[in-house]
Amino acid sequence: MKSTARRRNSRSLDLLLLILAVATGVNGLQNVSVDIPEAVAVGSTVNLTCRYDLQGDVLYAVKWYKGKDEFYRYLPKEMPPISTFGDFKHKIIESRSDAHKVTLVDVTSDLDGKYKCEVTNDLPNFHTLQTSKYMHVAHLPVGGPEVLVEKQRYAVGEIVKANCTTPSGNPPANITWTVNGHLLNSTILKNIQAENDNFSSTYALLEYEITQDSYRNGRVQITCHANVFQLYKRDASIHIDEEKPRLASVLGTRDSPQTKAGAVKNKIAQSLIVMLVVNSIQQVLR
Ligand SMILES: *[C@@H]1O[C@H](CO)[C@@H](O)[C@H](O)[C@H]1NC(C)=O
Ligand SMILES: *[C@@H]1O[C@H](CO)[C@@H](O)[C@H](O)[C@H]1NC(C)=O
Ligand SMILES: *[C@@H]1O[C@H](CO)[C@@H](O)[C@H](O)[C@H]1NC(C)=O
Ligand SMILES: *[C@@H]1O[C@H](CO)[C@@H](O)[C@H](O)[C@H]1NC(C)=O
Ligand SMILES: *[C@@H]1O[C@H](CO)[C@@H](O)[C@H](O)[C@H]1NC(C)=O
Ligand SMILES: *[C@@H]1O[C@H](CO)[C@@H](O)[C@H](O)[C@H]1NC(C)=O
Repeated sequence: MKSTARRRNSRSLDLLLLILAVATGVNGLQNVSVDIPEAVAVGSTVNLTCRYDLQGDVLYAVKWYKGKDEFYRYLPKEMPPISTFGDFKHKIIESRSDAHKVTLVDVTSDLDGKYKCEVTNDLPNFHTLQTSKYMHVAHLPVGGPEVLVEKQRYAVGEIVKANCTTPSGNPPANITWTVNGHLLNSTILKNIQAENDNFSSTYALLEYEITQDSYRNGRVQITCHANVFQLYKRDASIHIDEEKPRLASVLGTRDSPQTKAGAVKNKIAQSLIVMLVVNSIQQVLR
């Protein structure tokens, strides 16, 4: 009688502990995270990694989804443990995939999307945790940007009109400008994204007012930087020369004190106008 009561007590204690463990999450599966690149280039190989801490629990299943569709399942109790499903199952290299990793080869545009890893531990808890991340698949531009200006020489007060074009890609490259190495204030850049385009080149226009401070030893360097995520970074620069009054050039005052002062100040005119226009050129995909 006494011992039954104690057993009952100990059982309800176990139950209480289990409820506590589940409720507080102190025991068992924790810290599910994914390591997925923000972007990859078409044709590349990618590892999708799912990290988790079972804290002594037994793994029941790891499932991977793209959007709502499951494409990979790892069940350690099954033989073989790996099952693959859906449209891109032929992209999965099973010999390089396991309970933490799925390796995809020859990535194509249709693999662009949100990837989710879902981990479930075994009885008695059957706790499931999941986490996801978006992976972009990019067609990178072939070749670098090209920057053009109207003329070679500009006088103080004139407005330089430069444009920059990147070869087409998907998504289109982002363009930023620097003048003498200083990034132009991005709050005055307008980024117009074309909709429903598969392949676009980016066309950007710069209108920059030359001041005395712009010139460093009589020159201004204007650079167009094109990038697609962390995958593609190219730039193109042009130099423009100071248009001086005839007398000054006869006297050879290229390094006049005034110009030097300007170079030392090394300051970019705040009175610049930048317009970034993204122009889309639709192309036919093969
Ligand atoms: C889970 O992650 C948190 C924060 O990164 C860390 O403090 C904690 O130790 C991790 N828990 C386990 C069991 O690894
Ligand atoms: C994928 O992981 C394997 C090792 O598990 C490594 O050798 C390979 O370089 C990784 N591939 C990429 C694209 O990160
Ligand atoms: C870019 O600038 C150059 C030089 O000013 C000009 O000849 C060319 O037409 C411009 N390109 C476009 C697409 O406007
Ligand atoms: C950029 O422009 C905004 C708005 O004109 C201004 O508030 C900000 O201070 C500028 N930033 C820099 C670094 O000049
Ligand atoms: C082009 O983009 C549209 C809309 O974004 C999409 O429906 C279509 O499948 C894409 N075409 C190709 C060939 O990727
Ligand atoms: C372009 O820049 C925006 C804003 O920084 C960023 O969200 C986007 O991912 C970039 N796109 C590419 C293709 O790098």
